[in-house]
Amino acid sequence: MKEFKVTPIRNGTVIDHIDVGMALKVLRIIGLKGENVQSTVSMLMHVPSKKGEWKDIVKIEDRELDPKELDKVALISPNATINIIRDYNVAEKFIVEVPEIVRGIVRCQNPGCVTNLMEPVEPEFVVESKKPLLLRCIYCERLMSDVSDYLI
Ligand SMILES: Nc1ncnc2c1ncn2[C@@H]1O[C@H](COP(=O)(O)OP(=O)(O)OP(=O)(O)O)[C@@H](O)[C@H]1O
Ligand SMILES: [Mg+2]
Ligand SMILES: [Zn+2]
Repeated sequence: MKEFKVTPIRNGTVIDHIDVGMALKVLRIIGLKGENVQSTVSMLMHVPSKKGEWKDIVKIEDRELDPKELDKVALISPNATINIIRDYNVAEKFIVEVPEIVRGIVRCQNPGCVTNLMEPVEPEFVVESKKPLLLRCIYCERLMSDVSDYLI
C-alpha cells in the first residue's frame, strides 16, 4: 500500500531524492515564489529515504521541467529523480544528469571574469568531474564546485 504524507497529485512532477537541504533551491530553479502559484505544490524537507539517509522532495501539480531546469537541478542535486505523474501514477522516471558543458545557467564566481563585465558574454563551463561536481570556466579557468549560489 502506498503511504502519502501529502495530497497526491493527479498530473505533474515529483522531484524525489533531492539532496537534503536543497528543496528551496529547487523551488527557486522552477521559479515558484508563492505569489503566482496556480497549482498544488508540496515540499518535504528532511524525510528519511529507504537507504536510511535523508532527502528532500518537491511535488508540483500540472508542471513539467524544461531542459535548463533539469540541468540546474542536476548541478545542485545529482541524484535527484524526476517522476512524471499521470493520472496519479508514475508514468516516467529518470535520474537527472549533469551535462558535459554548462552554458548560460551558472555565473562565474570570479568577479573579474569577462562573463561578469558590462558586455554580455554568456558564461560557459567545461565539466571536469560530475561526482564530485567540478566546473572550469572556459574564459578565466576558475574552478567551481558548489554552484548553488551562482545559478542564473
Ligand atoms: N500521485 C502522486 N502524488 C504525489 N506523489 C507521488 C504520486 N505518485 C508517486 N509519488 C511519489 O513519487 C515518488 C516516486 O514514486 P514511486 O512509486 O516510483 O516510489 P519508489 O518506488 O520509492 O521510487 P524510487 O525507487 O525512485 O525511490 C515517491 O516519492 C512517491 O511518494
Ligand atoms: Mg522511494
Ligand atoms: Zn570565469
